[in-house]
Amino acid sequence: MEAETPSPRPDGDELFNPRSESFIRDPYSRYDRLRSLDPVHFDARLNGWLVSRYADVDALLRDSAMGRAGQRRFFGHFDEGGSIDLASRSWLLNMDPPDHTRIRRQFGKAFTRQRVESLRPYVEQKVDVLLDRIAADGGCEFVSSVAQPLPVALICMMLGVPEERHEICRDHSSALLPLLDPVISEAQQQRAEEACAWFLEYFGELAEQRRRDPKDDLLSALLPAEGEGELARHELINNIIFLFSAGHETTSSLLGNGLYALLTHPDQYAALAEDPGLAPEAVSEMLRWDAPVQYFGRRATADTKVGDRQLRPGDIVMGLVGAANRDPERFKDPHRFDIGRPDCQPVSFGAGIHYCIGAALSKMESEALFARLPQRFPGMRLVAEPERRGLMAVRSFKALDIAV
Ligand code: HEM
Repeated sequence: MEAETPSPRPDGDELFNPRSESFIRDPYSRYDRLRSLDPVHFDARLNGWLVSRYADVDALLRDSAMGRAGQRRFFGHFDEGGSIDLASRSWLLNMDPPDHTRIRRQFGKAFTRQRVESLRPYVEQKVDVLLDRIAADGGCEFVSSVAQPLPVALICMMLGVPEERHEICRDHSSALLPLLDPVISEAQQQRAEEACAWFLEYFGELAEQRRRDPKDDLLSALLPAEGEGELARHELINNIIFLFSAGHETTSSLLGNGLYALLTHPDQYAALAEDPGLAPEAVSEMLRWDAPVQYFGRRATADTKVGDRQLRPGDIVMGLVGAANRDPERFKDPHRFDIGRPDCQPVSFGAGIHYCIGAALSKMESEALFARLPQRFPGMRLVAEPERRGLMAVRSFKALDIAV
């Protein structure tokens, strides 16, 4: 069916209203409707296409006629010449080849499996300290006590950010998160501008220090690429900022969403407590079940097809990760949370050239936590029904009160 064909389908409001409370509570039944009624749906309010089938989302990510460059203004959340404008100019995710290939080659060196594995002992030790604290206190608010500090400590350690700066980096990184949403408030935008300005100055200074006195950290390791002309100075700093925010809130959401899924499926929690070796499969299922990043955006750079729809250059497309991950054509019994699911490969880290550079890192972190937590606290329970944060792109909880 062609895009122009009039149809009696429900309008966008009914099919996709990600800011409504009912959608935030349960996006998955809405995604089911969207996928079965109109899997490549034009949403007039967003002025873009919504893609909800697994096969279409995966193909879209690998389609070279779908670009990112020239769409820093994807949702237009910045002032020309302001700090977000400056910082986002060379974010990996906003670039197409050949610049994307060149920059990714440099940053990719920091995220090889070997390097990630070398960080495991640090993460395991950090996890033990956090779990000791929960044991001593008889419970905690999990988001602020574990889900946030763990990824922040790791990315700070990698970049060489000293401990006294962890908290301020975490706050500024969180302030950047609403930029991924199609609609943000003026206050959010203002706060994101301040956060970006702070990061530009802070990482600029840190890089200066490392130029004078290199250390064993990622920033120092990337500086030679700058000297060799592989990475311009602004590309280095801007992508360090992007790495921070891309690695922090996403992983933190995975830890929170994952724990909630386990605690609301006690048989799965018990299975993991019994056999911590299931942690890698459990983490894949958590990523599928309640993906931290719920969609990604692209813009067509040439005529191309998505599903059976013809798209034109300039068309905006949103791949709905949460919908793809519950597609019954790809996953048997998709609304069942099952940590023993075979062949569980959700699109939660994307695919194609922009496939998440930190996927192995965040999996390692999450596996380290979920291999330990259920075994140590077999009686862990939720104290109250938690509230969602209400952002659109990143799905997470405001707080998660637990007792052990
Ligand atoms: C559970 C945790 C994470 C999730 C769910 C996640 C999700 C994603 C997704 C979906 C993309 C592709 C977006 C697109 O194609 O439009 C992406 C890209 C990216 N992620 Fe992650 N991410 C996570 C953790 C991390 C970590 C820990 C880091 C680094 C410390 C990181 C750094 C990046 C970078 C740099 C890109 C851009 C890659 C490129 O454009 O080539 N992410 N991530």
